[in-house]
Amino acid sequence: MSGLSLVFDTPQLAQDYELRSADRQFRHGKRLIAELGVRAGDHVLDVGSGTGLLAEHVAGLVGLTGKVLGIDPLPLRVEIAQQKAKANLSFQVGNAYALDGLPSGSFDVVYLNAVFHWLPEKTEPLRQIHRLLKPGGRIGLTTGAKDHPNRLQAIKREVLSREPYASYPESRDGTPHWVTAVELAGLLGGAGFTVQKIEAQENVHHQPDGRAAIAFSQASSFGNFLGHLPESLRSQAIEDIQRELEAFRTPEGIRLEGKRLFAIAHKPASH
Ligand SMILES: C[S@@+](CC[C@H](N)C(=O)[O-])C[C@H]1O[C@@H](n2cnc3c(N)ncnc32)[C@H](O)[C@@H]1O
Repeated sequence: MSGLSLVFDTPQLAQDYELRSADRQFRHGKRLIAELGVRAGDHVLDVGSGTGLLAEHVAGLVGLTGKVLGIDPLPLRVEIAQQKAKANLSFQVGNAYALDGLPSGSFDVVYLNAVFHWLPEKTEPLRQIHRLLKPGGRIGLTTGAKDHPNRLQAIKREVLSREPYASYPESRDGTPHWVTAVELAGLLGGAGFTVQKIEAQENVHHQPDGRAAIAFSQASSFGNFLGHLPESLRSQAIEDIQRELEAFRTPEGIRLEGKRLFAIAHKPASH
């Protein structure tokens, strides 16, 4: 199981993600890393490392006595990440469903920043991560909250429920699989983790216009946002969504809000 449609990513979207994520996923990711208490000498696995911005930051924290490995199924994004590689930082094409090649008990920290909702089946990756962690090792993740979808996703869902778009149902592989805080606690506990914190955090940001909001989502979803529509209908759908987004214009731009789940857990030391 790969869990996502890889076919829509392009060099342009991958480059775009590098730029557009700096103020979003990267910023939230740094908060996650701070709460995980990553320190010098730690061995860290970044699952779904994208273009590698956060892993590069973590490599600075673990220093030369530590190590960071980033894996991601999108070759175009791994290619960009690899330009950041150095003695304690490496990247490879990989997948949360193919972690069995990595040795048990080899990581102090594993994190998934803005990745968990791209995993349709979450039990097996969590079980594997539990195996990969040393006793006492930590897992951290940020992901969208199912019960507080962001405004753009809600508008998109509404627009796509109408004709002519409704005749082209989205594939489950191309849509995010969000969880609630309760579901997340159950998943982490079920995989053997002790949950330290699960928080639903406000996720508010502004985009200059609807086009920028959609471009951000297209880069973040590797082209899956509307990627299932035929080319001719896609631009029409973008226009429809843009029009509805205008209702949320404020002096700072189009206000987009939702909630993000932020979770920290550890593998009990006695395991
Ligand atoms: C929004 S990006 C986040 C990238 C990076 N973690 C960051 O903080 O910028 C989501 C990433 O999840 C990755 N992803 C999707 N499905 C995955 C899977 N099955 N295993 C590992 N990574 C996956 C995508 O390839 C993409 O790079």
